[in-house]
Amino acid sequence: MVSYTNFPSMFSMDLSRNEVSILAELSRYPDKFISEDSLKLEGLDRRTVASAVSYLIKKGAVDFKLTEEESYDLGEEGRIYLSEGLPEQLALKIAGTGETTIDELKRLLGEEKAGIALNQLARSGIRPVNGSVQIDMEKLHQLQEEYEKRRLGLKEIEESGRCSDSTVMENLLKRKNLIIRKTRKIRHIRIRPEAISALKDQGDSIESLTQEMLSSGSWKGKSFRPYELNPETQIAGFNFLHPLSFMIEQIRDIFIEMGFTEMHGNYVETALWNMDALFIPQNHPARQLQDTFYLEEHPTIGEEDRLYQGIFKKVHESGIKGYSGWGSRWDPSESEKLLLRTHTTVNTIRYLVAHRTGQHAVFSVDRVFRHENMDWKHLPELHQIEGAVMHPKVSLGTLKWIIREFYSRLGIEDVKFIPSYYPYTEPSMDIVAEINSKEVELGGSGIFRPEVLRPLGIKGKVMAWGMGLERFAMLYYNLRDIREIYNSDIDWLKTYRITISTSDRKNKD
Ligand code: PHE
Repeated sequence: MVSYTNFPSMFSMDLSRNEVSILAELSRYPDKFISEDSLKLEGLDRRTVASAVSYLIKKGAVDFKLTEEESYDLGEEGRIYLSEGLPEQLALKIAGTGETTIDELKRLLGEEKAGIALNQLARSGIRPVNGSVQIDMEKLHQLQEEYEKRRLGLKEIEESGRCSDSTVMENLLKRKNLIIRKTRKIRHIRIRPEAISALKDQGDSIESLTQEMLSSGSWKGKSFRPYELNPETQIAGFNFLHPLSFMIEQIRDIFIEMGFTEMHGNYVETALWNMDALFIPQNHPARQLQDTFYLEEHPTIGEEDRLYQGIFKKVHESGIKGYSGWGSRWDPSESEKLLLRTHTTVNTIRYLVAHRTGQHAVFSVDRVFRHENMDWKHLPELHQIEGAVMHPKVSLGTLKWIIREFYSRLGIEDVKFIPSYYPYTEPSMDIVAEINSKEVELGGSGIFRPEVLRPLGIKGKVMAWGMGLERFAMLYYNLRDIREIYNSDIDWLKTYRITISTSDRKNKD
């Protein structure tokens, strides 16, 4: 126990509805200290309870004391294992019901993870014989269950700071970087006698007047909760852009300095433009429900788009001169679906259709949506940095040069390109950068295929690229979890400027 504090009893009768529910709960145990954690009130999450309890303490409605409790957080490996599975789980998948060799494990999992997996398997009594790992059916099921418990343990820790299974806990604690021990202060509160009587007085006082109350007249004769006109507020003491907005501003500035024009588009698009125009085959996995947010409504498609449907059908099914197409049937109704755009390359293609000739350098920094589960490196809604250049000098060389130049203006010098694949570009390259000594894949790039440009009557050569902003920002600001960008933790917001001031661009207050 660290402290025991009693605020002077300046009990004011002004209670919010949440405060009243908490007091009502506490009044069931008038002489007991109840831990804030155990206060489970319907419709109130932890944060709301915490804030109401702070007010109750300030108002002198409750006494409180603090205890320290051990709790856990996921470490870096823990987060990865939670989303991808533990190395020993991956090894089980590879081994299946048959067997696998150590070399195979190393090839598929990498040296490090394979090592960890073998170590954990050995602890479960599975040791490789002559370089190969064998597991029989029964053991496999038993281990699958046991290892899944470990992953669920990680999940429980992520959600509640602890894990109830002591065998699992023992395993997780022994391993490096899976979980981190921390201490957490817990408040225990006890209702004061004054509050008990105040609660009675408060009875059914009204906090907000609804339309029903007005029409039924049920408000008559009731008391109203007064407004607090002079609340105590804390001054945050800083005013500058949110780190992400700041980064977007910087990126805009850089593109503009490099002579690019900004393009804009809509969040809601048709599959026709988001996918078919870009020669993405209709059976492409990214088009499926689990990757794309489709809208329930289907509009009737416009005259012009109907013409494009005819064009894309031909291109997809039988190609254009010199190129064979996908060969499979193209279904016009599939292209009429409405969706939340999955990439800003749809902005690019629409821009190109409106500017079929000449020289252009365009960019956008805008939102895209993907049907992903949220975890430490995925968000369902994120920003993409998109760029495209139409120019006779378009080549892989100029593409690399532009992307390197862009990143170097952001203070990132180490940019690599690896061969990749996108249905609309050929050749295609993924962009990999080293940021804060971590290698990250930032996005894709390439030169538009004739199957995309020619049917649309676009005359020039075009290169384009698209990169995730949040993934980049996460590393740039040294965050462990991509969600932290949107948490807006005040302490982080106050300090992030220090990180960024190492680059030559300063945040402008
Ligand atoms: N649209 C791709 C993506 O969303 C990136 C990309 C853009 C690739 C332009 C090639 C050319 O990941």
